[in-house]
Amino acid sequence: MAMKRLLLLLKPFNVSAPPPSQTHPQVLHFLDSRHKMHHEAVNFCQAIVKKKSVQWKAVLRNNLSEPIKDVDMVVTVGGDGTLLEASHYMDDTIPVLGVNSDPTRIEEVEKFSSEFDATRSTGHLCAATVENFEQVLDGILEGQIVPSKLTRIMTSVNAHQLSTFALNDILVAHPCPASLSRFSFSINSLAPSPKTSPRVNCRSSGLRVSTAAGSTAAMHSAGGFPMHILSQDLQYMVREPISHGAVSDFMHGLVEHDQKMDTTWSSRRGVIYIDGSHVNYSIKNGDFIQISSKAPVLKIFLPHQLLQLKNT
Ligand SMILES: *[C@@H]1O[C@H](CO)[C@@H](O)[C@H](O)[C@H]1NC(C)=O
Ligand SMILES: *[C@@H]1O[C@H](CO)[C@@H](O)[C@H](O)[C@H]1NC(C)=O
Repeated sequence: MAMKRLLLLLKPFNVSAPPPSQTHPQVLHFLDSRHKMHHEAVNFCQAIVKKKSVQWKAVLRNNLSEPIKDVDMVVTVGGDGTLLEASHYMDDTIPVLGVNSDPTRIEEVEKFSSEFDATRSTGHLCAATVENFEQVLDGILEGQIVPSKLTRIMTSVNAHQLSTFALNDILVAHPCPASLSRFSFSINSLAPSPKTSPRVNCRSSGLRVSTAAGSTAAMHSAGGFPMHILSQDLQYMVREPISHGAVSDFMHGLVEHDQKMDTTWSSRRGVIYIDGSHVNYSIKNGDFIQISSKAPVLKIFLPHQLLQLKNT
């Protein structure tokens, strides 16, 4: 398909503005440098796109409110957060390329480790930086670089499908982090089947379900295993389970691509968080939540080293 219309989606410029309480000179200098790097990356990407024979426009990610259509490709300029947010407005027809506008510099993080956290943008899913943007863009426009298809999570509550598909993960938990989450689940075949798996009752800090793309994010921090990026399975983990005996075997596992996780919520209050905290849905006692990988995929130009990684 010819790429004629590009949408550049930009991380806002004010996100690294220091809070008024921040007076540490090195932190202020660091935040100022982050702001400049992002600004320069945005200008740079726009200058490159201008040279190509494509129509394009730039939109701030916060200005998105409608599903993205009428473009042939989306380029996000920011980090994984900007890419995740863009994905929530995309179906399985338009591919996306992530440009990490301000990659973390390991030497800098080490240099300041005893002073503050000098981590810049994470761009796990971003195939480009300003260093290789033009080369990658040319490869895409010439059809030499093709997008991969990433599995996303579809969630429904009482048979009503939520409109946002998770690219990384969902968290189902009580809105108060100190409160107990009560729920039960079973993992069943998506196809009608007489066989139902055992129901597991849990008291815990909630339930996290991740995609392969999200398996190296919060799921990994929680003790989960990294999955091959193109896996169509989901990984689930009950957080901090209060469990005993045989049930504990079911606290972490896979929901395979032809399965779904049927969950009944039994705390008074609960929230389903999709890819972080900004997209969330309230649930209540008795709600039935179905989780599967049957969402439309996301077409994305991935960093090639990510595609080469074997299952670990
Ligand atoms: C974003 O929205 C604001 C307010 O509606 C508007 O002033 C601005 O031009 C928009 N900018 C971009 C780049 O989308
Ligand atoms: C849900 O999302 C809204 C909008 O992004 C945010 O203001 C709110 O704090 C979130 N709610 C919870 C319980 O995290």
